[in-house]
Amino acid sequence: MHIDIITTLPKLVESPFSDSILKRAQTKGLVTVNVVDLRAYSTNKHRTTDDYAFGGGAGMVMTIEPIDNCINDLKSKRAYDEVIYMSPDGELFQQSIANELSLKQNLILLCGHYKGVDERVREHLVTREISIGDYVLSGGELAAAVVADAVIRLLPGVLSDETSALSDSFQAGLVAPPVYTRPAEYKGWKVPDVLLSGHPAKIEEWRHDQAIERTRARRPGLLDQ
Ligand code: ADE
Repeated sequence: MHIDIITTLPKLVESPFSDSILKRAQTKGLVTVNVVDLRAYSTNKHRTTDDYAFGGGAGMVMTIEPIDNCINDLKSKRAYDEVIYMSPDGELFQQSIANELSLKQNLILLCGHYKGVDERVREHLVTREISIGDYVLSGGELAAAVVADAVIRLLPGVLSDETSALSDSFQAGLVAPPVYTRPAEYKGWKVPDVLLSGHPAKIEEWRHDQAIERTRARRPGLLDQ
């Protein structure tokens, strides 16, 4: 998989991909993440990428030309499955979307700023819009990193234990059951006996029951879906 992230603030997006699982995924050649500086595609001498809104009002708007130039340049090198604009009014990101995107080859994530992008970018250049939640961030960069992280960890070979992405919260429409590690008793606080029983079927049944109970208690809406 290849992911291009278009941003005016490259430093803000680079760090999540330079450590731990996301870095290892790149070292193993399972994904390439390319952070693209939108300013490099601005044609004016101050390399600006925004302008005043037509009709007035507070806040700058990202101009279409550098974005169009940038996307066209990327498209001259490979075919993209989706050009995704990160926006608080996009489709709400959830595990099912991460699963779907993890099956694609090439993705562009476009990060907005200020009052957003010129509407013509959304009409003509973008294929999909994603929000990571009902709150407004100062830009799309952290949202793009969230989406890329959720997608990359699903790629085969990224997680060492192949089954562990499948047993994540939300994968079966349930939140994950509780987990414990050594010591079996700490300050009198005990690990449930069943986990120490060495009985795989019983442990599996307990985990499933816990997942259902937790989902009912914490996220009952998931059980209706
Ligand atoms: N840009 C600003 N806020 C955002 C959000 N909640 N999701 C995606 N992109 C955003």
